Amino acid sequence: MLAKRIPQPRQSDGVQKKQIGGATIYLADAFALMPDLGDVDCIITDPPYNAKTHKGARSAKSLAASQIDFDSITEAQFIEFCGNAVAQARRWVVMSCAWQHAAELEKAGVPLVRLGVWTKKNAAPQFTGDRPGVGWEAVAILHREGKKHWYGGGRHAVWACNVEHGDHPTQKPLPLLLDWVTKFTDPGETILDPFMGSATTGVACLKLGRKFIGIEKRPDYFELAHVRLAAACHPFIGTKRKHPIDGQELIFSPEG
Ligand SMILES: C[S@@+](CC[C@H](N)C(=O)[O-])C[C@H]1O[C@@H](n2cnc3c(N)ncnc32)[C@H](O)[C@@H]1O
Repeated sequence: MLAKRIPQPRQSDGVQKKQIGGATIYLADAFALMPDLGDVDCIITDPPYNAKTHKGARSAKSLAASQIDFDSITEAQFIEFCGNAVAQARRWVVMSCAWQHAAELEKAGVPLVRLGVWTKKNAAPQFTGDRPGVGWEAVAILHREGKKHWYGGGRHAVWACNVEHGDHPTQKPLPLLLDWVTKFTDPGETILDPFMGSATTGVACLKLGRKFIGIEKRPDYFELAHVRLAAACHPFIGTKRKHPIDGQELIFSPEG
């Protein structure tokens, strides 16, 4: 059993931080910053997958090259992250992940409560046509020792919903995250997503009255997260409108 967090160098200084309503986001490396954040109620996240999955991610637009432009993580990094996450979260740790990584959790002593699936109703086909396509992703559900509760009753850990295409190459569907936040967390709790990307978890948290902490190491995705979170707080942000009287174009930016 992984009982203690693996110590990491502390790194709060010099990281960029923004506050948007009930969300606090950091431009930083998650492995370095997480120990500085202290305990949170739940972690809901979507870490990078393994190298094979990243390499094989093709879209109809880019058949030759992978559509994923951020680094994969190794099995060892994934296991280290999960051990630390279970020690940091008072309750659930829920994440989509590479099934090859999820399969190693029990052997590594990480308390996997359930392995679930997200089936993609509109998944991309197998473009080569020479084998069946992959229409699902693994969902690892972890919890430290002790009493557990969720708001799904006897339901299965099976989620079926459409893939959504956004400005982030692996943006998760908002309905999926709204459901995870509703079922695994309570209003007012603090939810951490250490691999925030465009902050779909954060948008779900703000819409459902949870506090959110997000970490992203790429400046372009950090800015995208900022815009989406600001839009979740204020419906006009990120949009263009015509002034009702003089017809001038108004652009609503998150900087106000
Ligand atoms: C799978 S994506 C998350 C997508 C997100 N769920 C969404 O809906 O937009 C993983 C993200 O983690 C970021 N990332 C990778 N390694 C990181 C690290 N060590 N610290 C912080 N962010 C990291 C990547 O840049 C990427 O944006």
